[in-house]
Amino acid sequence: MEPPYRAAGDIHVLPSSEEAPGFGVLPVNAFLIDDDRPVLVDTGLATEGDDFLATLWSLVEPDRLAWIFLTHDDRDHAGNLLRVLDAAPQARLVMNYVALSKLSEEWSLPLDRVSVVNPGQQFDTGARRLTVLRPPVFDSPGTVGLYDPATGVALTADAFGTYLPELVQDVSDVSKGDLHSGFAEFNRLNHPWVSLVEPPTLDRALYELRRLDPSLLLSSHGVLAHGKTTTLMTSMVEICTMEAFVAPDQAAFEALRDEMGDE
Ligand SMILES: [Fe+2]
Ligand SMILES: [Fe+2]
Repeated sequence: MEPPYRAAGDIHVLPSSEEAPGFGVLPVNAFLIDDDRPVLVDTGLATEGDDFLATLWSLVEPDRLAWIFLTHDDRDHAGNLLRVLDAAPQARLVMNYVALSKLSEEWSLPLDRVSVVNPGQQFDTGARRLTVLRPPVFDSPGTVGLYDPATGVALTADAFGTYLPELVQDVSDVSKGDLHSGFAEFNRLNHPWVSLVEPPTLDRALYELRRLDPSLLLSSHGVLAHGKTTTLMTSMVEICTMEAFVAPDQAAFEALRDEMGDE
């Protein structure tokens, strides 16, 4: 984990990253909307659970955490969910029903603490109203994001993520070329179906986000990119015009294996 920082208004980033051999590093962010009814968005990597919880509780007392909003069921988002639920008994869990079903294949979640939401609904935290949205690209059918009218921030789950040569906080610390390739690689690898989509179709998937007109897109796998919302949306449409992503084959995997930690 890296030290938390403020992205906009009362929205904090709890930043981490994972090595992505062959691609660089992938940011892995959780977020805290810290008002009178704090909302944790995603729960970090299980591999650094103690560190994640220490970072989280440095920002908010466990008894004060009101909500856990889970964008989807993937490991890098739900990693410490059970530990956070356990430590913050007042917190309710908000997520999509499909993601809940998938997590329930492995975990016993406290269903009486769960609220399910769908894209298009409002999520009233008791301190603000957040709009639940469907990010334009996603890798789980249970994916939901959020738009916060108070700060103008949209939280987009996996969408708009990027591989980086090294972890940085702000897009200005990445070269244009590295950002272009890291963005295209991640968004094609994580959402391979974009190669089947015509640009106007993906453009339509961006309609709701464009209508909301966020001042900042915060991806679970991105860096701060103030003033880059339009550019990022244009780049997202462009990835459908690129060749389908092909994952490393056996020879490439063997070349990467040491880097992946297998001696
Ligand atoms: Fe995902
Ligand atoms: Fe993810």
